[in-house]
Amino acid sequence: MPQIKLETRPDVDLEEGSESKHITKPETKPTRPTIKKVFVKTFGCQMNVYDSERMIESLAPVGFEETKNVAEADVIVLNTCHIREKAAEKVYSELGRIRQVKADRQLEGKSTTVAVAGCVAQAEGEEITRRAPSVDVVVGPQSYHNLPDLIIKAKAESRQIVNIEFPEQDKFDQLAKRQGPRQATAFLTVQEGCDKFCTFCVVPYTRGIEFSRPVSRVVDEAKSMIERGVKELTLLGQNVNAYHGEGLDGADWSLTQLINALSELDGLARIRYTTSHPRDMSDDLIEAHRVNDRLMPYLHLPFQAGADRILAAMNRQHTAEDYLRLVDRIRAARPDIALSTDIIVGFPGETEADFAQTLQIVQTVGYAQAYSFKYSPRPGTPAANMDASIEEEVKSERLQRLQELLVSQQLAFNESSIGRTIPVLFEKPGRNNGQLVGRSPYLQLVHADGPDTEIGKILPVKVATATRNSLTGSIVVAV
Ligand code: 5AD
Ligand code: SF4
Repeated sequence: MPQIKLETRPDVDLEEGSESKHITKPETKPTRPTIKKVFVKTFGCQMNVYDSERMIESLAPVGFEETKNVAEADVIVLNTCHIREKAAEKVYSELGRIRQVKADRQLEGKSTTVAVAGCVAQAEGEEITRRAPSVDVVVGPQSYHNLPDLIIKAKAESRQIVNIEFPEQDKFDQLAKRQGPRQATAFLTVQEGCDKFCTFCVVPYTRGIEFSRPVSRVVDEAKSMIERGVKELTLLGQNVNAYHGEGLDGADWSLTQLINALSELDGLARIRYTTSHPRDMSDDLIEAHRVNDRLMPYLHLPFQAGADRILAAMNRQHTAEDYLRLVDRIRAARPDIALSTDIIVGFPGETEADFAQTLQIVQTVGYAQAYSFKYSPRPGTPAANMDASIEEEVKSERLQRLQELLVSQQLAFNESSIGRTIPVLFEKPGRNNGQLVGRSPYLQLVHADGPDTEIGKILPVKVATATRNSLTGSIVVAV
């Protein structure tokens, strides 16, 4: 990797061999290095949120700080998502707007470097530079640690640069130590990529095959997050419960072992993990939900479809029955666990009877929260070539019926909290003056009045009202 040269201007230039004692130092005030601004827009999943934070951090040593105002950005990064067609298309409409920003800034004599990162970058590579000539850098999810170099190079050489390699050495080893503002909650990537190859999914192609970070690195990163005030960590991986990183004793450790190691860290009150595959929901992980009080009672466990025929065509490697039995075992270990899921409607060949089985699973399980999508064919995935595609109207109509059911379950789940007192980790001020926003153990958004000094604390809140999206209550003051 080429080294980044930091431009530093010493107060006085001393030529080699010159004698410093003869030089009187001019009276100059120390000047701050020019701060350049980077604007990052994040699309898609939580891992992209994590990657965006790390990209911003990686640019700090070369003089960048984050701005929320795109017009003042010297560097604009779009961190993109390729999971569904709509997500990918959003990038191009955003690039249209950015072209205008770049042109406006040019009229003011300012240059702007535009980078496309993330999974669209990985999947489309050079195609992006053809479709969007205003793009200077295309960088994939496994090589964004090179972003500072790529930006400097693209500018110096006035050319478009594409870097979508899967480097031998993992990017985490190359990235700077965690830094940034204090925060109560944070994401931490522990595993990346996926070997499951569900036939609808681009992840194994864009993020690559499965890779787990060593336990020691995860623990070090967790410690530095705790120093920054983090009380709750969400461990991220596309297939996080398949985690099998090098443990502290040199052997492969499971996600449960990693969670147990993190549970020993002082100051870390809450641990979550996402996203899990039903096949990798091991006995020890289920048991951890029974015994580990730092492991939050919330689990995102996608089932995707209810009919075994469709599950087989999706290559999900589980049946509807397997999934339901698993849910029973998880609930036996932790009866109050809040379950969440991902569901796809309108996969090729899905009949009305198949879809009814999807609704049936939702009825049987009862979800606290869920994400549901119309099937979107992705180029290069096996399902994209399957016959019997479902008409758009049918997909929309099924999605609507499914979402009605899911919304009613979500509301019922939130309403069941009314009157209860639950521990809430406060994360930030709310929209209304004097209001704070936090999360319950079940990941519900909770609003309560309180001073900013309570941010970062876990306080009991008595819940008064509930909507499908959030709870409102008051902090219970000890008497
Ligand atoms: N079409 C629709 N939804 C998809 N997902 C993944 N690929 C597709 C696709 N091609 C959904 C799955 C997955 C979630 C992250 O996105 O439900 O769990
Ligand atoms: Fe994609 Fe998840 Fe299937 Fe992996 S397990 S291929 S990430 S849907």
